[in-house]
Amino acid sequence: MSLNHMPKHVAIIMDGNGRWAKKRLFPRTSGHRAGIKSVRQAIEYAVEHKIERLTLFAFGRENWQRPQEEVDTLMRLFSEVLVKELPMLKENNVCLNVVGDRSRLCAEVLDNMKITESQTLSNTGLQLNIAIDYSGQWEIVEAAKSIVKAVQDGSLGINDISEEIFSRHLQTNITQPVDLFIRTSGEQRISNFMNWQLSYAEFYFCSKMWPDFRKKDFQAAIDSFLKRKRRFGKTDEQL
Ligand code: FPP
Repeated sequence: MSLNHMPKHVAIIMDGNGRWAKKRLFPRTSGHRAGIKSVRQAIEYAVEHKIERLTLFAFGRENWQRPQEEVDTLMRLFSEVLVKELPMLKENNVCLNVVGDRSRLCAEVLDNMKITESQTLSNTGLQLNIAIDYSGQWEIVEAAKSIVKAVQDGSLGINDISEEIFSRHLQTNITQPVDLFIRTSGEQRISNFMNWQLSYAEFYFCSKMWPDFRKKDFQAAIDSFLKRKRRFGKTDEQL
């Protein structure tokens, strides 16, 4: 029995690429390559089930600390994927939006990002966010700076600052809260991902490594979500 509607916004931490590769005695980077198939599966599932928004965490601000070779491979991979998957995104009416700090990304990634974003801008189906050089705390600090500026230039009064206004100042401008948060690999933490938007999300932890994540695993997460009762602070009787 479903107690819930389909989630409108699903956010995923695609974790376990390194461990997947290590178990097979492959270099870590081959795990990231293998993870691309799972990215496609997640997008296809979201399109087929009319999920409105899917946010994928591809690279956190803390990930710059990884070995340079891994960082370089990941950047190359993002650049490649953004171009290669453009026809698939167009075919499926998907609108891509890359979220995060663009100031440290190399020209090639930025260029391919802009091309894919502009060519999918008017697509009205799945809104796909890919988070690159992103962290939830960074996003909140940036929003605070932007609010201070608005107060200083007189366009915003201190007493007008609300959760709604704050959401609008988030750099990623994702005002839609996350309904369902999925993390693969068995780790159970949010790792500085969408701290603001996860406030009322339902959490689902999948023990599979990201390269093994398939549509049936997405379906298992949805099945679990549909059985949950979301009260948003109210009592059962009030629902
Ligand atoms: C986490 O696994 C995964 C990443 C840091 C990268 C995710 C990237 C992809 C799936 C490639 C392409 C994606 C897009 C959206 C273009 P990990 O390396 O932390 O794994 P570990 O915890 O086992 O070491």
